[in-house]
Amino acid sequence: MNMERIRCLKLQQKVMTAQEAALMVKDGMVIGTSGFTPSGYPKAIPLALAEHIKETGNQIKIDLLTGASVGDELDDALTEVGAIRKRMPYQTGKRVRESLNTVGGIEYQDQHLSMAPQNTRYGFYGKVNLAIVEACAITEDGNIVPTTSVGSSPTFVQEAEKVLVEINTSQPAALEGMHDIYTPLDPPNRQPIPLTEPGQRIGTPYIPCDPDKIVGIVFTDIPDNVRPLAPIDDISRTMAAHVISFLQSEVACGRLPKNLLPLQSGVGSVANAVLAGLAESDFENLTFYSEVIQDSALELVGNGKFKVCSGTAITPSADGLKYFYNNIEKMRKAIILRPQEISNHPEIARRLGVISMNTAIEADIYGHINSTHIMGTRMMNGIGGSGDFARNAYITIFLTASTAKGGNISSIVPMCSHIDHTEHDVDIIITEQGIADLRNKSPRERALEIINHCAHPDYKGALLDYYERACQANPAGKNHTPHILTEALSWHTRFNETGSMKQK
Ligand code: COA
Repeated sequence: MNMERIRCLKLQQKVMTAQEAALMVKDGMVIGTSGFTPSGYPKAIPLALAEHIKETGNQIKIDLLTGASVGDELDDALTEVGAIRKRMPYQTGKRVRESLNTVGGIEYQDQHLSMAPQNTRYGFYGKVNLAIVEACAITEDGNIVPTTSVGSSPTFVQEAEKVLVEINTSQPAALEGMHDIYTPLDPPNRQPIPLTEPGQRIGTPYIPCDPDKIVGIVFTDIPDNVRPLAPIDDISRTMAAHVISFLQSEVACGRLPKNLLPLQSGVGSVANAVLAGLAESDFENLTFYSEVIQDSALELVGNGKFKVCSGTAITPSADGLKYFYNNIEKMRKAIILRPQEISNHPEIARRLGVISMNTAIEADIYGHINSTHIMGTRMMNGIGGSGDFARNAYITIFLTASTAKGGNISSIVPMCSHIDHTEHDVDIIITEQGIADLRNKSPRERALEIINHCAHPDYKGALLDYYERACQANPAGKNHTPHILTEALSWHTRFNETGSMKQK
């Protein structure tokens, strides 16, 4: 055991097994854990809890609050034994997704990630009974040094009646010093957040914790169960090239400085590919003020293009994690890990003038974006931080391949089957077909811009046909946002019925 990781001597007596710690979880509890996309989440205690439920058949159901998505050892293991009643605020696990999409399964509230911590403090999710937090060390005073993510842990630790800590020795001690923990006061005492530059530190390098709250400490060496990123394909590479050329043209016409403004990039393979494109571009001295730090962002730190890289979680593939660990001294100089409340804060995104780049499931011809629901009903992951940034960024870009499911479905549709981001928040849509610039355009101008620049040729004709007929409807020509409502969503039902939009 690495007792030197518990520098508060009196807390060394609190070391116990994961099985002993798991017994502190009781039916009906609200539990807040560390973890964000899926890094820095507790592993040994939830696995022991799942095992305990399996062996004893005890009915334990909890409300599980996390930073964002967590690994299978937490979400899937507890879903398998039916131990999650309610889940909040973001997930990506296969089992948990299946359950929350089933009537009678997990109840899921998809939340803006910047708001989840304050909503916890406001008491909207009930009293947090227990916080379970992965740490790389506990300081002399009992404060907690997080690992590869911060997420909502500072709020969970502050609000919980009791705290369990999992010290993960697979996480390097050198992570200490990378975090910057700041929790705002709540209204009516909230003050301006004193962060005016992406690289600024405004808090402590640990999560403040009253040592008397810590009721157990468990050692583990189970590594973060990180997810693979899809290899960068031609479609993503083309979208990345469009992003670069758009940013270059903004610099050329004086709307952005040469080293741009702080960049934000979303989750998933497309977002990763876009940043990979930046690595090959001429841009230098860039700053990153984002939520997740994926492989390409780590590479941009490694090759010196990112002077500052601020987020709430390292979200790499297995290779990316290895790269991060192997270069940790270099990484420490540029990377700052903050609570998700601060990494995604609307006040800061707007003050810094972040350039926001997130991926959509589908976009409609007027610029609304669906980031979460397949066919309007099935939850994919959640809105994550996309809304935090989209509403408040200097420029808001959404990316999507123009088709999905092998070309059988158009990602540009007459009307989104679910709307996460409205026309009011979206400046630019990019597909591999091109760039639609929606700034200073009316809905009718936007429709033509999006169809002509972003739709796949297989669907362009049908979209133009829809738009032209819609312009003549309700009654003829009286349309600000032309639609034939009875037809608008038939694109989706057509897919459901035939398995392909093409087979009209
Ligand atoms: N219709 C139906 N299915 C679609 C679709 C569409 N228009 N577009 C994508 N999909 C499906 C894909 O086929 C894929 O399905 P599969 O898992 O069964 O293969 C799945 O959605 C994911 O799409 P993929 O192309 O692999 O995209 P990705 O890895 O880049 O992720 C999002 C895209 C939208 C799911 C992801 O970015 C997300 O969850 N975003 C919301 C949260 C967010 O933006 N966070 C930002 C953090 S700041």
